[in-house]
Amino acid sequence: MADRGGRFITLEGGEGAGKSTQIRLLAEHLRMRGIDVVVTREPGGSTGAELIRKLLVEGPADSWDGPTEALLMFAARRDHLVRTVWPALDHGQWVISDRFADSTRAYQGYGHGVDLPLIETLYRVAVGDFRPDLTLILDLPVETGLARAGRRHGNETRFEQLDVAFHRRVRDGFRQIAAAEPARCVIVDADAPVEGVQARLAEIVAQRLGVG
Ligand code: TMP
Repeated sequence: MADRGGRFITLEGGEGAGKSTQIRLLAEHLRMRGIDVVVTREPGGSTGAELIRKLLVEGPADSWDGPTEALLMFAARRDHLVRTVWPALDHGQWVISDRFADSTRAYQGYGHGVDLPLIETLYRVAVGDFRPDLTLILDLPVETGLARAGRRHGNETRFEQLDVAFHRRVRDGFRQIAAAEPARCVIVDADAPVEGVQARLAEIVAQRLGVG
């Protein structure tokens, strides 16, 4: 648990899962209940981490090998925590982050084959004992997600250029993470109308964190 006053909620999922829309709607839902919400994202969410993000999401797919990419993700993550997330939680705000460490497990670990124990070692160095209070994993078929993401961006980011097999490993990775940590993670079917997904997320937040 965050144990810093506020609550830390992370949204995870593959490409085109609809995280940004759902985060906006969840933040509105919580604000209507009087909660002070900060919305942020990874990689990014602080000045330094946004600079690292540019290195990560632009350029050819093979710019970095898996372990280098994982190191950059955790460097960005630590800056994001130190500058943005922890201060907000200490002020009693709730933080909703578009992606967090499960993305490194799923993309660099399951997707690129970086050793999962190595990722946990990096986690301890960069993050310590801190964990999200709740992780919502938006799940949908890889083809549907990539088609949605393609429409949104027009041109692809580095990760969207990777093949379908990569994205299938990422999806499977998220499912394995959820199965291993059911107290923290909930899988949500994102291949459904926006309003239905939104209602389900609000219901889970109410059940798990006692709001709404
Ligand atoms: P976004 O498209 O959700 O903004 O995320 C940017 C890309 O970064 C996305 O393709 C997933 C990828 N990513 C990782 O590979 N590992 C990570 O740890 C994070 C946070 C994102």
